[in-house]
Amino acid sequence: MDLIRVLYCSKPSEDTGYAEKLEIVTDAAERNGRRAVTGFILLDDERFLQVLEGRPETVRPLLERIEQDPRHTDMEILSETETETRLFGHWSMGFAHAAQRVDEIASAELGEDATSDPVKLLDLLVDLARGE
Ligand SMILES: Cc1cc2nc3c(=O)[nH]c(=O)nc-3n(C[C@H](O)[C@H](O)[C@H](O)COP(=O)(O)O)c2cc1C
Repeated sequence: MDLIRVLYCSKPSEDTGYAEKLEIVTDAAERNGRRAVTGFILLDDERFLQVLEGRPETVRPLLERIEQDPRHTDMEILSETETETRLFGHWSMGFAHAAQRVDEIASAELGEDATSDPVKLLDLLVDLARGE
C-alpha cells in the first residue's frame, strides 16, 4: 500500500484555547477514521506537532485544508516520507497534551530553530503513542 507520512508543526492562534484544541482533536479523530488517515498530535501552549499518515490523495488535500484553518498559524512541514507501513495504525488521531515532556523535549527540539530533527520528533510521537 502506498502511503505518505507527513510531520508538521504550527502555532495555535491566540484565541485557540484548550477547549478548542480538544475539539480539533476530537473532530480530527472522527474524520480521519472515515478516511483511513492515522496519526498523532502533540500540543502544548505554544505549538501543535502533528503527524498524518494515509494515502497521498487523501493526506495532501487534508493538509491544504488544515493549512487554511484559522485556529493555527505558521504551519511548517518538517518531513514527508513515502512508506508502506503505518507507525500510528491504532490511532485515527492520538493525542497528548504536553505538560513537562514537551516543554523539555519539543521546545528543545523545535525551540527557536524550527529546523529541528524531524526524525527525533517522530520518535517522540511514536513513544507517546505507545504510552512510553
Ligand atoms: C492543528 C490542527 C490539526 C487538524 N487536524 C485534522 C485532521 O487530522 N483531520 C481532519 O480532518 N481535520 C483536521 N483539522 C481540521 C481541518 O483544518 C478542517 O477544519 C477539517 O478538516 C474540516 O474541513 P472542511 O470544513 O473543509 O471539511 C485540523 C485543524 C488544526 C488547526
